Amino acid sequence: MARPLKICCACGARPNFMKIAPIVDALARRSNVETLLVHTGQHYDERMSERFFGDLGIPKPDVNLGVGSASHAVQTGGIMKAFEPVCLQHKPDWVIVVGDVNSTIACALVAVKLGIKVAHVEAGLRSGDRTMPEEINRILTDAISDLLFVTEPSGLDNLAREGIPADRVYHVGNVMIDTLIKARERAEQSDLLTKLGLSPRQYATMTLHRPSNVDDVRVFSGILDAIESITADIPVVFPIHPRTRHSLTKLGLQDRVDHLKGLLLVEPLGYLDFMKLTANAAVVLSDSGGIQEETTILGVPCLTLRSNTERPITITEGTNRLVGVDPAAILSAFSDVRQERDFSATPPALWDGHAAERIVKTITTPPGATTAPPMELATATA
Ligand code: UD1
Repeated sequence: MARPLKICCACGARPNFMKIAPIVDALARRSNVETLLVHTGQHYDERMSERFFGDLGIPKPDVNLGVGSASHAVQTGGIMKAFEPVCLQHKPDWVIVVGDVNSTIACALVAVKLGIKVAHVEAGLRSGDRTMPEEINRILTDAISDLLFVTEPSGLDNLAREGIPADRVYHVGNVMIDTLIKARERAEQSDLLTKLGLSPRQYATMTLHRPSNVDDVRVFSGILDAIESITADIPVVFPIHPRTRHSLTKLGLQDRVDHLKGLLLVEPLGYLDFMKLTANAAVVLSDSGGIQEETTILGVPCLTLRSNTERPITITEGTNRLVGVDPAAILSAFSDVRQERDFSATPPALWDGHAAERIVKTITTPPGATTAPPMELATATA
């Protein structure tokens, strides 16, 4: 029997875990594949990391690089320094990276310089905003990847525009939605709403963690102005990211938040609890990337508190609306939701729960073995 194909799956920050879970699962179902799961330690709090492994049934990582929080350069460099010896020791044939966090670019860069093939899952997304650290991570990771797996057609256009050869690019769907579809029933069984005293569709969910929103006192205060008005209508549940928690103290906003009646601050939630909270909300207000996609599938209106999105299909086919951070604009969009203006959605093509299988099939099929790829594996030019 031929030597097993060695595949290293790298992850590190909260949104990575939902993306790597179905890939690790699909790899485990392949014969003659050896998987190495590496956690960079970019996120390390139990609520930001370990709980997701439990909720999503991801096996314990084989290696944890334990890098932790730091400035961008120190964190990215730290991951690279720690990941290189792991690659040298295990000699994987492939490194799979997901999403757009610092762990993504750091692991991709180490692998490509060692001559290891790199597959980027969730390639091609572009916000057009180079002040976002994630946008830089996306552009650079895509430029050095051997295989690029795209969630939506805009990704094919973006990569073609940047000169990425079409035979490296596959439109396969969305691994984050694989996870959502698989976990949906279990998430419905969460008792979170009962614990918080909430009824379905009678509250809003909010998440905020983008530096541009939570590190700027003027922007953050403006968002809170809008939230104060919204809480006069329905309560707003706010699972708070550690970065945002630090900012509240640093910017002197903690007292205001503590006294904002109707704003329910809770610790970061696990995946199943958060999906329960999101699926049953009247509306979600967020600056997250992935939540724009999850609300599209859940059919819940999503007001994105940003001026751009790298996921345009969630607007054209989903429930997402770009609202920005102006309080009046947030309130106007909220009023549209309450008046039941149209926020209907159709699931984007291939967001069907099988993206990870397509990815694993592509990576594990030797070059030249597939003469006629099935439709969903068709590359940009096919
Ligand atoms: C990172 C990603 C972002 C992603 C987000 C999801 C980058 C550049 N950013 O942002 O794209 O949307 O994760 O959560 O990779 N902290 C803790 N405990 C933890 C992790 C972080 O307290 O387990 C605190 C630390 O003070 C840290 C801060 O949060 O400095 C920010 O963490 P970091 O990983 O640098 O970036 P995120 O804002 O989480």
